[in-house]
Amino acid sequence: MLSFCSRMNFCTAALFMLILVQTLPTEAGKCPRLCSCDSTKLTVTCVGKNLTLVPPTVDEITVKLDLRNNNLQMLPRGAFVLTPYLTHLNLQRCNIIKVKEGAFRTLSRVVSLNLAYNKIDILYQESFDGLSSLKELHLDHNRIEEIQPGAFTQLGSLNMLALTHNQLVYIPNMAFQGLHNIKWLRLSHNSLNNLAAEAFAGVFTLSRLSLDHNELQFFPTQTMTRPSEVTRLDMSYNPMAYLGEESVSMAKLTHLYLDHMSLQDLSDQALSGAPLLSHLDLSHNQLRYLEPLTGPKELASLNLTGNPIYCSCYMRPLKQWASAGHVKLLGACAGPPHLSDELLQAVAPVNLRCRSRGETLMDELEEDSESIGSSVPTAKPRQKVKCPVNCDCDIEAQHATCEGQGHTKVPRGFPVKTQLLDLRSNHFHYLPTNSFPGSNQVVSLHLELCKIHEIESGAFRGMKQLFYLYLSDNDLTSLDPGTFAGTPNLTYLHLEGNRLTQLPGGSALAPLSSLFVLHLERNALSKLEPAGLLSSVTPKLRELYLTNNSLTAIANGALESAYLGTLHLDSNQLTEVPTHALSNVPNLEELNLSHNSIRWVGPKAFQPVSQCLKRLYMDHVGMEKMSRDALAGLGAELRALTLRGNQLETLPELNLLTGLEVIDLQDNPLQCDCALLPLRRWMEKASLEVTATCGHPPDLKGQKVWEVQIFASCPESSTHPQQVIVDPNPTKVKTPKTILSKAVVGAKAKPAKPKTKPHNPTKNQARRKTVAKKVAKKKKAP
Ligand SMILES: *[C@@H]1O[C@H](CO)[C@@H](O)[C@H](O)[C@H]1NC(C)=O
Ligand SMILES: *[C@@H]1O[C@H](CO)[C@@H](O)[C@H](O)[C@H]1NC(C)=O
Ligand SMILES: *[C@@H]1O[C@H](CO)[C@@H](O)[C@H](O)[C@H]1NC(C)=O
Ligand SMILES: *[C@@H]1O[C@H](CO)[C@@H](O)[C@H](O)[C@H]1NC(C)=O
Ligand SMILES: *[C@@H]1O[C@H](CO)[C@@H](O)[C@H](O)[C@H]1NC(C)=O
Repeated sequence: MLSFCSRMNFCTAALFMLILVQTLPTEAGKCPRLCSCDSTKLTVTCVGKNLTLVPPTVDEITVKLDLRNNNLQMLPRGAFVLTPYLTHLNLQRCNIIKVKEGAFRTLSRVVSLNLAYNKIDILYQESFDGLSSLKELHLDHNRIEEIQPGAFTQLGSLNMLALTHNQLVYIPNMAFQGLHNIKWLRLSHNSLNNLAAEAFAGVFTLSRLSLDHNELQFFPTQTMTRPSEVTRLDMSYNPMAYLGEESVSMAKLTHLYLDHMSLQDLSDQALSGAPLLSHLDLSHNQLRYLEPLTGPKELASLNLTGNPIYCSCYMRPLKQWASAGHVKLLGACAGPPHLSDELLQAVAPVNLRCRSRGETLMDELEEDSESIGSSVPTAKPRQKVKCPVNCDCDIEAQHATCEGQGHTKVPRGFPVKTQLLDLRSNHFHYLPTNSFPGSNQVVSLHLELCKIHEIESGAFRGMKQLFYLYLSDNDLTSLDPGTFAGTPNLTYLHLEGNRLTQLPGGSALAPLSSLFVLHLERNALSKLEPAGLLSSVTPKLRELYLTNNSLTAIANGALESAYLGTLHLDSNQLTEVPTHALSNVPNLEELNLSHNSIRWVGPKAFQPVSQCLKRLYMDHVGMEKMSRDALAGLGAELRALTLRGNQLETLPELNLLTGLEVIDLQDNPLQCDCALLPLRRWMEKASLEVTATCGHPPDLKGQKVWEVQIFASCPESSTHPQQVIVDPNPTKVKTPKTILSKAVVGAKAKPAKPKTKPHNPTKNQARRKTVAKKVAKKKKAP
């Protein structure tokens, strides 16, 4: 009886299905309660019903399921197993807090998934597994603060990922791994202040990246080299104040949005690594003037709307450059008064004038008396600016400058809101205590070339916001312990080009708990003593520049710094690699030892930093020999190695350096015999082009290692047994991606430029230079 009944039911159901399929009735057979179903379009809609579960009776053949505005809270594993044919799934505003791993596992046909306006806080590793056809994923307006590694690995078809309006502060390395077809990544409206260097590694198809409305204070130079196909980058509404040389190094970029930031200055070289840039939006910043931009060859429009552009002779080069290159300039002059509101495009270069001080004063007096005496209100009443004599204060831009005016005392009485104070090229000689009263809003202070030989304790007292301090090219021989008292926010300190014989004692730098970058190039330091400087007093120091001093030794313990990433010791008198001193810099990524006299490098010379070192420069150190194990410990982390201009006849083992993108062996008298076969093999496998020439034997002198035939006759096993370093498995050798299927070697070193301007010392400035200089060369067949 029972079986009859169930069979009966089955028959009825089958019959019903048959009818359904044949006649496509408008009423669906199994439409869940509270839902409406369209069986021609195969859609099911259950919007705003306070559902707490995905309705279990949705017809299996449904392709579109709309569950907006419900109360699902949690999506369990396999939440949609009963509807495997879905192509569109809308779960907006469903109060979802958690998406369990495997929630979508059966949905291999879904092309669009909308999870916007929920309360998701973490994206777990397998949250999106199974969505192998997904093209669009909307996760905007959630509370996401963490993306776990591998969260997106199965989304190989995804084109667009929206993560806007979440709570992300940091993007970890490889966060978007697996998105092999991603075109547009939207990260706007988060709180991002940090992007890991490899945050966008692996997203080779990305063409558009939105990072606007975040908290980025610096342009993430290195990070941005990774998504190599990006043509459009939106960085608007981030609090960046400066853009330094080579900040933007993005080979395919055409559209760059840097509007509504706090840019006060932009290096003319900032965009030198963006040759294809056609549209640059710098509107609504604090730029007072701009130099012609080096790099972009096809710039069509430059938007300067809403900047306090002062149309003086300083703007003339930009105008001329723009007309010559047919660059459309958008925006208007903010001053001087007779040019204000004049369109930049319209103003003639001859009208961009700088007049003598006297004339300007006359003008001002006249204008003042006009506005006081005249009963006719002038269209724009001129604001009376409080400003010391022989200085120029711009209230709107919050700049004040007295550059090169022959001042012998620091002028007083700058507008209280001044943020950039430029006093360079005066003759102060001596800065007494409290030299900058009332300048507590100053962020950037320029005192370069002021002949300063002494700074009294407390000279900068009260400068609580001071972030950049330029004391370069003065005559300082020592620093008092209290020199920097009262400047707790000081982050970039420039002391290069002085006569310091000792590292500023721990006590001078002690108040600088935020110090990030310290420039001490071109001083007279001869020895780095242990303790003091770098350990507890400057806990956050990331970059230390000691180029061109007279250093002969670095004591063990002199470089204690947990975060130090960049250390330049080039152009000194070191006679050996300071291996022991390196053991206290566990995060060192870049080490420049070029231009010292290191004739021999012993085994394991870089062992203490082997896990972190990415760039090692040892050009022109007169090196005659490296131990075969000189680089032992270094492995895939190392990206750049330069040994140019030495006396090396043989090389250390390089085989484990599988991550190299740059290797420079030029100008070494390499001994071209079978002992060099491993190098030759390695070069072939790693697809690196290495410009290396033979120095010996005489008949091969000057020939390229690539080209000499000698290796063909080397028996496989003829090499010195210890030098057989060729890895038999070539797949292990990573082919450098991005720019460099072949790297190059042999770029000419650029003379170091004095950095007198505020500049954005992104961590990897130096690296950028290296990469920028790479020239893709044709790979030669071995
Ligand atoms: C929605 O459901 C929850 C519990 O399932 C209930 O507490 C709440 O009152 C319901 N809200 C509405 C508007 O029906
Ligand atoms: C220039 O910037 C202004 C202000 O941000 C904007 O309204 C305008 O559309 C921009 N013009 C172009 C051509 O991009
Ligand atoms: C550093 O600067 C920040 C913001 O500019 C400010 O809030 C903070 O008070 C400053 N720090 C100190 C110790 O004054
Ligand atoms: C080192 O400094 C001196 C004096 O400032 C300068 O003449 C020289 O060119 C510098 N050398 C390098 C390699 O920067
Ligand atoms: C390393 O130092 C040398 C010598 O001072 C300099 O020419 C080179 O540019 C430096 N390299 C980097 C990447 O800073």
